Amino acid sequence: MKSVKALAVSAALLLSGYASASDHVLDVRVSKLGAPIQSTMYGLFFEDINFAADGGLYGELVKNRSFEFAQPLLGWRAFGRVEVKSDGPFERCPHYVVLSDPGHRERRTGLQNEGFFGIGVEKDKEYRFSVWAKAPQGASQIRVQLIEQSTMRERQEFAQEKIDVTSNEWKQYEVVLKSSRTVGKAELRIFLSSGNPVALEHVSLFPVDTYKGRKNGLRRDLVEALADIHPGVFRFPGGCIVEGTTLDTRYQWKNTVGPVENRPTNRNRWEDTFDYRYFADYYQSYGLGFFEFFQLCEDIGAEPLPVLSVGLACQFQNGLDAHAKMDELQPFIDDCLDLIEFANGPADSRWGKVRADMGHPEPFNMKFIGVGNEQWDEPYYERLKPFVAAIRAKYPAIKIIGTSGPDSEGKMFDKGWEAMKAQKADLVDEHFYRNEQWFLGTADRNRYPNCGALRYDSYDRKGPRVFAGEYACHGAGKKWNHFESSLYEAAFMTGIERNADIVHMATYAPLFAHVDGWQWRPDMIWYDNLKMFKTVSYYVQQLYACNKGTNVLQLTMGGKPVAGQDGQDGLFASSVFDAATGDIIVKVVNTSKEPQPVTVNLQGVKGERTAQVITLQHNGSMDDENSIARPDLIAPVSSTLSVAAGKKVAVIEDVVPQMSFRLYRVKK
Ligand code: AHR
Repeated sequence: MKSVKALAVSAALLLSGYASASDHVLDVRVSKLGAPIQSTMYGLFFEDINFAADGGLYGELVKNRSFEFAQPLLGWRAFGRVEVKSDGPFERCPHYVVLSDPGHRERRTGLQNEGFFGIGVEKDKEYRFSVWAKAPQGASQIRVQLIEQSTMRERQEFAQEKIDVTSNEWKQYEVVLKSSRTVGKAELRIFLSSGNPVALEHVSLFPVDTYKGRKNGLRRDLVEALADIHPGVFRFPGGCIVEGTTLDTRYQWKNTVGPVENRPTNRNRWEDTFDYRYFADYYQSYGLGFFEFFQLCEDIGAEPLPVLSVGLACQFQNGLDAHAKMDELQPFIDDCLDLIEFANGPADSRWGKVRADMGHPEPFNMKFIGVGNEQWDEPYYERLKPFVAAIRAKYPAIKIIGTSGPDSEGKMFDKGWEAMKAQKADLVDEHFYRNEQWFLGTADRNRYPNCGALRYDSYDRKGPRVFAGEYACHGAGKKWNHFESSLYEAAFMTGIERNADIVHMATYAPLFAHVDGWQWRPDMIWYDNLKMFKTVSYYVQQLYACNKGTNVLQLTMGGKPVAGQDGQDGLFASSVFDAATGDIIVKVVNTSKEPQPVTVNLQGVKGERTAQVITLQHNGSMDDENSIARPDLIAPVSSTLSVAAGKKVAVIEDVVPQMSFRLYRVKK
């Protein structure tokens, strides 16, 4: 029996002359479970690009808090008598400032921090200010304020506290400021309010309300958005920052653990990359370091997947002489082995103790390691070998992820895969930022033989598994998060799902972007200092990750995979069974400009049912995107649909709206 809604739709179709439902009969073979779907299948890839860490996920609101940028006062405005010194209490962050009497009772000494594109604070919320300080010539005092520099109000400050610095030894002082205004671009001002000088180091301001209320915590709304995806895997810390513009600015995890005050600042590789979106003040405080990444993975239930340097500086930016020579690789190999001990070793092992001292005596149970980010050709293949040998020898259970480089196909890509097979990598990390045609599978096949949702159907099943570690549809001439490109990602992902036997992980990239500080787009989640919004690509990822099921179910139309092939009218589809709920899940993407009637036969399922339906569509321009101003412009909508009983088959009759992604969940 058809639902009222389905009958009404069919009648409307007949009148409008659209193809009848029987033109698109999708057969789902429910009785035979296909390949298991890995719990890691849909995940997240974090890189500190677009101010994703400092200024983003990491809760710190003060920029250059330790005065360690190349220009020690970058991010600060100093007034009166302020001196920068370099014999501070923290060996790897030696700089600090001394504020002294300005020499006249009407003059002032102090500092002002601009934050990351301002400091975002909300009315009635609390902010924890802390500072390491000493008063070398007797007790001193500072006044700490949240201010609005540009305001017509009588007073610039809207929160203020005093701190008495009583000791001539370095000590940490802390005070909580309660904001009386919501301001997106506030600043932090510190006045010296004593005749005695004061020395200040590691000046910090965090929301009290971080995720899980942690002191060195993360921005709550952003972590919640990550958790809501239910990611299976979390790749970190990059991306190109793993490599560095030069080898000495590569990401070094050992610099990111231990007390935050003593984590050395690093220049961010994304400071340098694009002169048309240049940020001279892009550094990494490493306050969000490897301990915090592992903890985050634990919080959101994702398998940690750290990626480490293979001794190659960014190959795009350097010639051969920039890299570590073959006989210089041992420290890089040690970094991998030591990391595994840091994550998994007993609390009394050298690196396990570092983890335990940071508050996590239990191991993090790391299972995967990436060696090299997006490397290619012989310099990579030869360097990878000793890493593989050393990791296999000491930690045979750890799965090693190699890479096929920056191309989605072609000579170097094939060479990369061959090399990874030869070295018996467990997974190969593929990266592809491609346009609409590529994702739809309509790109020039000579140049892009493996484009579209059929990409993985022809992969060799004998070698390593696939980690689609970085991908996104980059609209030709439209590099933003418009609806259309996200829909094509959904279409492409039916192919990932259908091929879950070979594809074990997939992570969209990049993850985060600050609206005032981005270098690269599209990105999955955007934010300013107060608010965030989810892109349509986020919703696509979420719909897959929250409905990933446990086994593939064969789904065909006329015996063929539904992948936008000739005669399939722009339809893409895949299906899975979820053993935990007993649900059959069918995903259908209609990339055509017409509504498409579909009949989905759930073969072997008896009796009527109700399908839970989720639809992602947009009635406005296909170029539209969500934004800070309109965060919910495009979002998934839930409904239900009656499923009719046939003979040994349950039948979904529906019309999938033009340019839409629709998901059905039906009890088996
Ligand atoms: O995601 C942005 C960049 O794209 C990554 O850092 C790099 O791996 C790729 O080239």
